[in-house]
Amino acid sequence: MRDRTDEVRERGFTDHVLVCTNDRDSEYAACAEAHGDEVYEAVAAWLRERDVFWSSVHVAETSCLGLCSAEGTAVAVHPRGRWYSDVVPADVPALLEAEFGPGASRLGVPADDSVAAPEP
Ligand code: FES
Repeated sequence: MRDRTDEVRERGFTDHVLVCTNDRDSEYAACAEAHGDEVYEAVAAWLRERDVFWSSVHVAETSCLGLCSAEGTAVAVHPRGRWYSDVVPADVPALLEAEFGPGASRLGVPADDSVAAPEP
């Protein structure tokens, strides 16, 4: 095992956006069928436009985040500890602006409950 925490921090890591793209072969809702891939692409595009995709903000497709819905995808933003469900691609700009600011100038900000969640 290697502890690479310092290396990741030195490369400029500030935040991690997790996008559930989980699929399941059952009657229960899963994000893969609720825009999971499209939400991931929208997150990546928003971050690329601000030149922080995988430089400061890492993005990962994940398995189930425990917020399953047929209406949209689950997204978590860490280490600030923010959780969303029912996210559709059109929601992504408002979600990321609420978290990171319009120009992604609020990266690495500690968890703050005063961050205004985007309006549904
Ligand atoms: S399948 Fe995405 S949160 Fe459960």
